[in-house]
Amino acid sequence: MIKTIPVINNKGGVGKTTTTVSLAAGLGKVGNQVLVVDLDSQGSASFALGLDRDDLDPSTADVLFEEKHPSEVIQSTATENVDILTGSLRLADMGTVLSSVEGREKRLARALSTIEGQYDAILIDCAPSTSLLTVNALVAADAFVIPVSPSYLSLEGVVSLGEVVKNVRMSLGEAAPVLGVLLTMVQRDDEETRAIIEEVRHHYGGKVFDTEVQYDPALEEAPTRGASVFDYAPDSQGAVQYREVVGEMLDRMERYGSVYSTVREKKSERT
Ligand SMILES: Nc1ncnc2c1ncn2[C@@H]1O[C@H](COP(=O)(O)OP(=O)(O)OP(=O)(O)O)[C@@H](O)[C@H]1O
Ligand SMILES: [Mg+2]
Repeated sequence: MIKTIPVINNKGGVGKTTTTVSLAAGLGKVGNQVLVVDLDSQGSASFALGLDRDDLDPSTADVLFEEKHPSEVIQSTATENVDILTGSLRLADMGTVLSSVEGREKRLARALSTIEGQYDAILIDCAPSTSLLTVNALVAADAFVIPVSPSYLSLEGVVSLGEVVKNVRMSLGEAAPVLGVLLTMVQRDDEETRAIIEEVRHHYGGKVFDTEVQYDPALEEAPTRGASVFDYAPDSQGAVQYREVVGEMLDRMERYGSVYSTVREKKSERT
């Protein structure tokens, strides 16, 4: 089974948080129990799911730094079937706090293994960096989703992300597969954008989700109301398209699940 899915791209502003929150809410809407892990010190996913600044403690940092049991830290959200491990400013210190601690890159994987079976999906919102936090997400991953906004810069981001994944693979033996590359914030009326989309589809082939998420103001407004796009604007284009991505995702989680079960077995040996 594919369960733990970081949403990752080392470029900023490509739609990672929007994708994490929307996919989590969409999976929750169709009856899955979902946990969002906010691994960004900005706490954007936590805010987007309606939490206030005062709600950010305890946070994922307590789980990673002090090895608190996740069940003591997990909070529920107003979004149906979606719980959260919040982000907080302290996360930014992980590299320093754990700089000489052995197994520091496996802290998240270990913590999540203690709540095995409680969730159908665990989506991890990553910060735009290749920090120890991101390495923890990669180590915990069963598969990951890469959002790409079709600008030249974020295409470069995808290529350098490939390097990060390769490094993790080399240091840990193997790494989880790409569940899907998602084209986000697409403005199809722009010729250059269309050329880049073609390049991404060429580069990643069948890994790219068929559905493209277009630029939609509803997706920008929803997080400011602390609600997913499905609750804020259920009939918007953004809601329709993310619903389609959820469908594709569930299909892939099921289809790839058995193929990648060996990855999971190896992972549990590691942690
Ligand atoms: N499809 C979309 N249409 C319109 N606005 C969008 C769309 N997707 C994301 N946005 C907006 O674009 C901005 C960046 O998106 P988001 O925060 O999801 O990116 P990110 O990759 O998580 O950024 P960071 O790297 O800073 O964490 C946000 O203001 C978000 O609301
Ligand atoms: Mg973000």
